[in-house]
Amino acid sequence: MECIPMLAFCFISFLIVRVATPTDTMHTTQPIRDGDSIVSAGGTYKLGFFSPGKSRNRYLGIWYGKISALTPVWVANRETPLNDSSGVVRLTNQGLLVLLNRSGSIIWSSNTSAPAGNPVAKLLDSGNLVVKEEGDNNPENSLWQSFEHPGNTLLPGSKLGRNRITGMDWHLTSWRSPDDPSSGNISIILIPCGYPEYAWLEDSNVKYRTGPWNGLGFSGLPRLKPNPIYTFEFVFNDKEIFFRETLINNSTLWRAVASQNGDFCRN
Ligand SMILES: *[C@@H]1O[C@H](CO)[C@@H](O)[C@H](O)[C@H]1NC(C)=O
Ligand SMILES: *[C@@H]1O[C@H](CO)[C@@H](O)[C@H](O)[C@H]1NC(C)=O
Ligand SMILES: *[C@@H]1O[C@H](CO)[C@@H](O)[C@H](O)[C@H]1NC(C)=O
Ligand SMILES: *[C@@H]1O[C@H](CO)[C@@H](O)[C@H](O)[C@H]1NC(C)=O
Ligand SMILES: *[C@@H]1O[C@H](CO)[C@@H](O)[C@H](O)[C@H]1NC(C)=O
Ligand SMILES: *[C@@H]1O[C@H](CO)[C@@H](O)[C@H](O)[C@H]1NC(C)=O
Repeated sequence: MECIPMLAFCFISFLIVRVATPTDTMHTTQPIRDGDSIVSAGGTYKLGFFSPGKSRNRYLGIWYGKISALTPVWVANRETPLNDSSGVVRLTNQGLLVLLNRSGSIIWSSNTSAPAGNPVAKLLDSGNLVVKEEGDNNPENSLWQSFEHPGNTLLPGSKLGRNRITGMDWHLTSWRSPDDPSSGNISIILIPCGYPEYAWLEDSNVKYRTGPWNGLGFSGLPRLKPNPIYTFEFVFNDKEIFFRETLINNSTLWRAVASQNGDFCRN
């Protein structure tokens, strides 16, 4: 009569194991519904549906996985909210992430740089959501990455600037309010002409310029200096122009946000 408790034990531990090891990867056969999430390998970031602030709208986004205060760092459908919890995101065989509403209309979609064979979408521990061929871990070969499409947040490892070959532009745009991630009136962009520098725009008026890079920092941005949290670099070559921060200790939760009031907040 010992086998019944043993079976019960096995079943329970199976459930515990299933719950304790969420996946970091989305396959074409496994859509994510509102209420589901995927978690990066080290647990640092989570992808799922959320409502910001006092809003009841639902958004597909990425937030910190280990702290209880909901802190979105990327939002897919920032301009096209869902008004209920019927949203579902799928990875198509073509390698596109498509977000569908209750009536099955595509309200947001990613893009792809090449035709896909056997695509997967993986949430990396850097916070980057990457669509790639299964088993191909070369970041150069990715089909699409959320780091190429930032919203209001610059995460360590992501670039602010532009790809001079494809013309792809990596800039930040504030949220309209803490309850509304749609585009606000503050942008931080690269001005690529001459000696490149960054500008803060309110609507399309320049409020502030960083001044060009002088080898150590930006001449007009004296507060950017060596520190124990991150290193930073400015790269200017034939292919790309970008600013990027890199964490010294990956356990630090660090981000820079283009905020509604025009500050570039770091925390
Ligand atoms: C969501 O929007 C649809 C289409 O406009 C509408 O029919 C539905 O009643 C709305 N749902 C809620 C919960 O407001
Ligand atoms: C789904 O999105 C389509 C296209 O934006 C819209 O016309 C439709 O009302 C939406 N359905 C619901 C239930 O929100
Ligand atoms: C998708 O990518 C292609 C090729 O890179 C580009 O021409 C097109 O404009 C992009 N579409 C969108 C909606 O970003
Ligand atoms: C920190 O994370 C980045 C991106 O995930 C990774 O490339 C790097 O190797 C990590 N550094 C350390 C010291 O673990
Ligand atoms: C930009 O948005 C802020 C906050 O919503 C507002 O106070 C400000 O007046 C806006 N600026 C312009 C030029 O519309
Ligand atoms: C990184 O930070 C974590 C958490 O603060 C700490 O436990 C760890 O020792 C640090 N690692 C290094 C290499 O300093």
